[in-house]
Amino acid sequence: MCGIIGITRGPGTAGRGTDAQPGEGGGVDQVLGVLLEGLARLEYRGYDSAGLALVGPPDGDGMWRARAANGIRSLDDLTKRAESAPRGATAGIGHTRWATHGRPSEENAHPHADCSGRMALVHNGIIENHIELADELIAEGHLLESETDSEVLAHLIESRLAADPGTGLTGAVRAALGRVRGAFALAVVHSDQPDLIVAARRVSPLLMGLADDATFLASDIPAILGHTRDFFVLEDDEIAELRPGSIRVTAPDGTEVDPAPLHVDWDLDAARKDGYPDFMSKEIHEQPRAVADTLLDRLLPDGTLVLDEVRITNEEFRAINKVFIVACGSSYHAGLMAKYAIEHWARLPVEIDIASEFRYRNPVLDEHTLVIGVSQSGETVDTFQAIREAGKLGAKVLVISNVLDSSMAREADAVLYTRAGPEIGVAATKTHLAQITALEILALYLAQARETLSPADARAMLGAMGVLPDKVATALERASDVEAVAEAYRDSPSFIFLGRQVGYPVALEGALKLKELSYLRAEGFPAGELKHGPIALVEEGTVVIGVATRTPVWEKMMGNVAEVKSRGATVVLVANDGDEETARHADAVLWVPETEYLFAPIVDVVPLQLFAYSLARLHGHDVDRPRNLAKTVTVE
Ligand code: AGP
Repeated sequence: MCGIIGITRGPGTAGRGTDAQPGEGGGVDQVLGVLLEGLARLEYRGYDSAGLALVGPPDGDGMWRARAANGIRSLDDLTKRAESAPRGATAGIGHTRWATHGRPSEENAHPHADCSGRMALVHNGIIENHIELADELIAEGHLLESETDSEVLAHLIESRLAADPGTGLTGAVRAALGRVRGAFALAVVHSDQPDLIVAARRVSPLLMGLADDATFLASDIPAILGHTRDFFVLEDDEIAELRPGSIRVTAPDGTEVDPAPLHVDWDLDAARKDGYPDFMSKEIHEQPRAVADTLLDRLLPDGTLVLDEVRITNEEFRAINKVFIVACGSSYHAGLMAKYAIEHWARLPVEIDIASEFRYRNPVLDEHTLVIGVSQSGETVDTFQAIREAGKLGAKVLVISNVLDSSMAREADAVLYTRAGPEIGVAATKTHLAQITALEILALYLAQARETLSPADARAMLGAMGVLPDKVATALERASDVEAVAEAYRDSPSFIFLGRQVGYPVALEGALKLKELSYLRAEGFPAGELKHGPIALVEEGTVVIGVATRTPVWEKMMGNVAEVKSRGATVVLVANDGDEETARHADAVLWVPETEYLFAPIVDVVPLQLFAYSLARLHGHDVDRPRNLAKTVTVE
């Protein structure tokens, strides 16, 4: 996810905190100041690059644009370049990027310009049909300079404006968006109308703010909360015309609508977390979007699945006779879930190993082995070294990562990106769900490549995945019920997590979340393994949390629940909505919607994340920065 910001101000405004008059030297230019300050507050949404465009400076010659792509230093570099910007701009837009299409580079950085260089655009989202649109525009003579889907929008608007100059910038934006499939929040400026910003959104967030003689837009509230508390919400496919001190919104058919007002009295810190008490809870609640975005535009109309950067041919995929998954922590648990899906659909044997073990076991690999490295950061040194070792042994390496152009992504033969956006909380939540989603997509892709699943069946399965974001959202609606269960067992000194088949990695993930957040003893076991020793741990009052949703091994799971119950355990079960037969055996139930069982981990893990989160908060721990842990482990 990226961050966008914009401001348009009247000629008479010396904005808050600035003393510059248009064209006057000295002081902080309000438009520039608002853009740079807002980009700093939006950096948590991505910092692969930063850029801004200004229109209307009296001594400028139209539109002034600057971009920088230098990782976490991108905004610093942009700020230095902005020192040479013309003063007194009347409007401007800015962007901080979390790269999804096209590497983090200056030419891929926003704002993107049209061929005339008089219009600039910033965009947050994914344009699904950008390839076909780009082909059309190139055939029309447009020169696209980047690898991004977003730049296509700038040229598409230019093309619509050229085709019908009378329609104006707003009409051209409306006509262009009528051709677009996908998600967007965008803002456009044009040097011919230097006090106008045209904005639009579909799925991606965009808010507008009004002050006395200035109007603002941003991806979130904190970016402009310092300038206004009066916000307005833009709905999907509505188009807004922002002029100094005024907003005009029209529906897709052009009729004027009144945007819903939103008065915000949060303080800034609360606002950065979108009103959530911490980043972890914000990110847990971003999971439906993370799953939906990871699914987006992965399926072409003919049923074939699209991977981001695949330098492995279909023939090479077909020649694969073994899969090896290597990862750490939550990423390892996602890999365990993928083992079931790949073996079930693609009929390929799958080995999985903790990355730090894989490297030193002299693994048996060759050019027919596909090694999948799962790492949200793409920087975990254990996993990075493991895929390097695999490459040396001749294996094909595919990486699942949440960070474009990460070290592992650059090293791999193929990459499938999750699209969870930056994850600030140390505990993996939305990136974990996005990883499982990406791995299930990969399992379907392998099955199609090996023709163990027809494109139609793969489509049907991907269609079934399409409802997962809603099911995750439903599971999240029970957060307060989960909190009550955590409250009931807050004094338990330890917890046992149990699961079978796809429920086993869910149990492991639930135990890891509890350990790393509440610092309590928690261990996950395959439920069938209990009687081979671990059941000795069970005594009166031991809290046992079981994943008991309806899978082919549900009955076996309930047998294991009976075993621990008969030894005095207190049993909490993750169960499907309405499953009273399961609930009868539990002291407490964490309810989740039912799904196709191979997708169940994506939904079933949610209450366990919430349980660990609630317990950690009850114990007064910092859930965003748990003790002893780092977000990315770059040491062996
Ligand atoms: C999970 O909550 C932890 N933050 C940790 O186990 C993490 O999953 C592991 O370090 C792997 O990180 P990666 O996905 O960035 O490689």
